[in-house]
Amino acid sequence: MKITVIGAGNVGATTAQRIADKELAEEVVLVDVVEGIPQGKGLDMWESAPVEGTDTRITGTNGYDETAGSDIVIITAGLARKPGMSRDDLLAKNAEIVGGCAESAVKKSPNAIFIIVSNPLDVMTYVTMKRTGLPRNRVLGMAGVLDSARFRSFVALELNVSVEDVTAFVLGGHGDSMVPLPRFSTVAGIPLPELIPEKRLAEIVQRTREGGIEIVNFLKTGSAYYAPSASAVQMAEAIVKNKRRILPCAVWLEGEYGLRDTVAGVPVKLGRNGLEQIIEIKLQPDEDAALKKSAEDVKANIAKVKF
Ligand code: LAC
Repeated sequence: MKITVIGAGNVGATTAQRIADKELAEEVVLVDVVEGIPQGKGLDMWESAPVEGTDTRITGTNGYDETAGSDIVIITAGLARKPGMSRDDLLAKNAEIVGGCAESAVKKSPNAIFIIVSNPLDVMTYVTMKRTGLPRNRVLGMAGVLDSARFRSFVALELNVSVEDVTAFVLGGHGDSMVPLPRFSTVAGIPLPELIPEKRLAEIVQRTREGGIEIVNFLKTGSAYYAPSASAVQMAEAIVKNKRRILPCAVWLEGEYGLRDTVAGVPVKLGRNGLEQIIEIKLQPDEDAALKKSAEDVKANIAKVKF
């Protein structure tokens, strides 16, 4: 297994480190345009390998030759949000950056599965699919795992229970219109509406929607990276180990959930081929309307991308 991580900023570097810690690949290549940064961070991580007892070889580079033959490419490159910015404010610039990275990477690794982390996430997933020419099963956006993780972390605090027993279900785009679904979110199989009063649950749902900006407002100089990198690595692990995990991922839709020509977060079976199956569930009218609205927002942003 060889995994390329593009972007050696906080998200990319933490992603590379987590892959090494889990020994998910024999080789990790960290790519960035800034000279010295991927090399320095890569070497520093490799020097921690003897202490951690992991043999994943990490190297850093400014080019793509070293990425050749990767099985997975994770794109984290691009600008991050600052306070006062929405994810959509990043659209034009990041479309250019992500599109360029995707095109360079696929030339060297035509068989790779791409995981997209850069924002606005759903649109960047589309940009990657277009610029690489890859089928949708090999281009997956990371957002649902992160949004669900945030939801789960808040529920675990609220009920003072293990995060391991909390499952959460979040559909739709990675933005203010994401669609957390409490009735499919559980603690040890018990649906959340049975455990948390409606009003309080609505507050937790809202905090989940604003989870990204909550961190941006604390950090001021950038956005979250610990939970985003953990989420991207969980997707990579499902692919590497062919686990067939059901994880919410942003994918191009071709009629599923009544949506097409747009990207939205839906439950996906993730295995060695990437997207193996989209799981469709019957939504209630208000949930369905929220998902449609979220997908329309993404579609409107896709229309703004210039190639
Ligand atoms: C977040 C950014 C990375 O949700 O989208 O933290």
